[in-house]
Amino acid sequence: MELNVRSLGRTIAAEPGANLLETLRAADVPISYSCMAGRCGVCRCRVVQGQVLSANGELRQPMTGEGEQVLACQSTLTGPVSIEIPEPDEIVVHTARTLKATVVEIADETHDIRRIVLKSAKPLDFTPGQYATLQFGPDLVRPYSMAGLPGDDTLEFHVRLVPGGRVSPHVFETLKVGDAVKVSGPLGASYLRRRHDGPILLVAGGTGLAPALSILRGALAEGMENPIHLYFGVRTARDLYCLDRLRALAETRPGIALHGVVSHGPVPAGLRGGLVTEAIAADWPSLEGFRTWLCGAPAMVEAATILVKRLGIPLEHVYADAFYSTGY
Ligand SMILES: Cc1cc2nc3c(=O)[nH]c(=O)nc-3n(C[C@H](O)[C@H](O)[C@H](O)COP(=O)(O)OP(=O)(O)OC[C@H]3O[C@@H](n4cnc5c(N)ncnc54)[C@H](O)[C@@H]3O)c2cc1C
Ligand code: FES
Repeated sequence: MELNVRSLGRTIAAEPGANLLETLRAADVPISYSCMAGRCGVCRCRVVQGQVLSANGELRQPMTGEGEQVLACQSTLTGPVSIEIPEPDEIVVHTARTLKATVVEIADETHDIRRIVLKSAKPLDFTPGQYATLQFGPDLVRPYSMAGLPGDDTLEFHVRLVPGGRVSPHVFETLKVGDAVKVSGPLGASYLRRRHDGPILLVAGGTGLAPALSILRGALAEGMENPIHLYFGVRTARDLYCLDRLRALAETRPGIALHGVVSHGPVPAGLRGGLVTEAIAADWPSLEGFRTWLCGAPAMVEAATILVKRLGIPLEHVYADAFYSTGY
């Protein structure tokens, strides 16, 4: 059977029953991957003709002209199929690894958000916007997004307290400087695309600011000159944080616009009231030409995805690893 990688104009001889990602890797097709276990979403591609069998036994075939999104690492070839993979210039491959790290700083950013700074024994290679799994103890494992850059001396994370949760209360009540943490990663496909030269829309809700900050810093460090519009949405004024840091970054070059948006209660001077999606809709009749990174809780990410799609950003230019709960 034949596997056609339409975006590259390549046809590969393949065996039915073979794993899609393994087949692409064996043929040196430049597809990014990380966890190889269906968790990180990095190996996402689209079936545009034919079908594949997903890990849960479903046959996946295109239902619309846009094709069917599948995870290559979780897909088995069943017959001739055509796929599209992300543009080759957009691909990053950092093989996920586990590093030992030590807590070197814990600081309150708000009443329920803490900045956790880790020093790892070896550097963690990642692209801004990615996340890692932090293990604080045998049953204390959750994903958190890197807020810094791969070249930093330390790894920075922002953790919000989820009352009644298992891991975030541990971070607030028990974790102390000097504790050991295992960092596994990097994971995630919502990373900075360096080749994009059009405008960038960064939408962050709460601790979604961590990956947004990393992407903003990454774009500046790369010398990218794109206009950048960062919308930072919070519930009340006391949930705002990092504003001075954001303002300092915005002053480093023209073309960076910051919008703090508060949905409930008094709105501090210079910020806006309402939902972050309402602020974007009010500012932009069209977002054609933009690429967008949506960072934070699933409900915000879902609402923002619907909005930006309606305003003209195709789904392949919408990047999001929503902060869904992975409680187990
Ligand atoms: C890709 C990714 C990146 C993430 N990055 C960050 C980050 O940078 N900073 C950060 O603070 N969190 C982040 N998260 C969320 C984080 O992994 C945990 O889900 C969160 O800290 C809650 O864990 P917990 O063990 O305290 O709660 P759990 O024990 O997992 O959950 C307890 C209860 O609270 C609910 N719950 C879980 N999370 C939330 C929430 N956010 N809001 C409301 N209810 C919730 C659960 O459904 C459950 O009922 C990320 C998640 C993902 C998937
Ligand atoms: S490599 Fe396929 S989901 Fe992570």
